[in-house]
Amino acid sequence: MPEQRSSQWYASDDKNSYIHRAWMRRGLPAHAFDGRPHIAIANTASDLTPCNSHLGEVADAVKNGVYEAGGIPLNLPVVSLGETQVRPTAMLWRNMAAMATEEMLRANPIDGVVLLGGCDKTIPSLLMAAASVNLPAVVVPGGPMLTGTFQGVALGCGTDVFRLSEEVRAGTLDREQFIRSESSMIRSRGHCNTMGTASTMALVAEALGTIIPGLAGTPAPDARLLENAHATGRLAVELVAEQRRPSDILTRGSFQNAIVALAAIGGSTNAVVHLLAIAGRLGIDLTLDDFDRIGSNVPLLVNLQPAGRYLMDDLQRAGGLLAVLREVRDLLDPTALTVTGRPLVDHLDDARIWDEEVIRVRESPMQAEAGIAVLYGNLAPDGAIIKPAAATPRLLKHRGRAMVFDTVEDMHARIDDPALDVDENSVLVLRGCGPKGYPGMPEVSNMPLPKKLLEQGVRDMVRVCDGRMSGTAYGTVVLHVAPEAAAGGPLALVQTGDYVVLDVEARRLDLDVPAAELALRVPNDATLAGFAAPQRGWERLYIDHVLQADTGADLDFLLGASGPDVSRESH
Ligand code: FES
Repeated sequence: MPEQRSSQWYASDDKNSYIHRAWMRRGLPAHAFDGRPHIAIANTASDLTPCNSHLGEVADAVKNGVYEAGGIPLNLPVVSLGETQVRPTAMLWRNMAAMATEEMLRANPIDGVVLLGGCDKTIPSLLMAAASVNLPAVVVPGGPMLTGTFQGVALGCGTDVFRLSEEVRAGTLDREQFIRSESSMIRSRGHCNTMGTASTMALVAEALGTIIPGLAGTPAPDARLLENAHATGRLAVELVAEQRRPSDILTRGSFQNAIVALAAIGGSTNAVVHLLAIAGRLGIDLTLDDFDRIGSNVPLLVNLQPAGRYLMDDLQRAGGLLAVLREVRDLLDPTALTVTGRPLVDHLDDARIWDEEVIRVRESPMQAEAGIAVLYGNLAPDGAIIKPAAATPRLLKHRGRAMVFDTVEDMHARIDDPALDVDENSVLVLRGCGPKGYPGMPEVSNMPLPKKLLEQGVRDMVRVCDGRMSGTAYGTVVLHVAPEAAAGGPLALVQTGDYVVLDVEARRLDLDVPAAELALRVPNDATLAGFAAPQRGWERLYIDHVLQADTGADLDFLLGASGPDVSRESH
């Protein structure tokens, strides 16, 4: 057996190794320290992350696989983020979770790690950590929940909350019915079943090569999840034996595959900041423009909410990610490896589409060109993004008068005011929602439409914001505007009544105000009025060091990998 990293802790007969071994001898036999691989199971299970609350059972299946393959499995609870629970936004702590997991993987006597995630930020933070430490690592995604129904109609969690709440505001659904749908929304264990961020990041992580091919998208209650968790435990031991590390798998080619997958599945815009951040941990030169260049010509093949009709268990039934990727095989990097040691494309041969309504064939896509469009202009010098698949086609080229909201609270206070000076051609502008400004870049960009316009039947408007948007949301929303208003971006200079010009085909987002006039304007302090800069703790560190959305909103001192080495002993 090759020398293990954990042997640096355990292999000696001196006092230090005695201490490391003795305190672990609570059920572990002496031969646990004979050089066999120690595999951490980095587990984001938490009762306050309800989408991940079943991961303890998944961890047990992983453990069995590790033991069976001759390794020692070790449960390692790590920071967990419940997207629906934490305030002001889970994104504020993605980097904290990644940093804490990174440090614990490095500090402990382990040789490899199985990463258990699900809810939105958990897989990104685990992958950022694993990329930084560069120990052999493999992901088990917790899987989506089963589809719930209300009054005979399938509910997509997230997407249908937005739809139903807008129906209440429009007066077409009464509040009692709305509340009654609550118990139908979440049918089982697992994460959101739309093509939201959790589903997207699981599928994208598989396209990156970090998951056993074919596993992502398996519903949480599906027996095959545990079967594959067991297989992943075995694989983790193999990864250590072969010293197959994240840096072997997360290459430029694998990010190309992830971007192709992101477009073909109609994935969440949040994947942009997460993939940029993961690449940044490895020093891979991935840019915002790569998403447009690689992804824009990719057809949208998956008919899932919010861009389409179906839900995640339908995708699994129809053939899953591998069936989707087989349709766009020519766009994938054939050399990009997976955790199996074989290229991703090698795993596509047996994939089939079983329902062409859910997964379209290449010749009959949902949209011929999907992906993420990256916009530049005097309103977004460092870029902004829009997901055309979720937008209203006629609004993709639009010129309208801005209605500016300085904060989310300002928007909520005025959006339903009958006197609000807006019509269906207005452009709603919301600022103060970037990484520094909120802080944490919340999912508020898909702001609700003014009630008086909803009552007139308006269902979409152009919206512009420096925040993010839930992957389960839809609409003509320009988001991730960089630099954000709070970082001195020109979004802070927009005034109500200015004309905003959006031209997605030309990739432009501009304010139709002469440069000379803009130069005389000063940022509106009201953008920061609701925000008192914290003096201590994580928020202080975050605000001082967070980068802008166009590079992934990581902390500046976390870029680049540090590797697994620890130079000094603890005693
Ligand atoms: Fe956890 Fe949607 S809230 S995945």
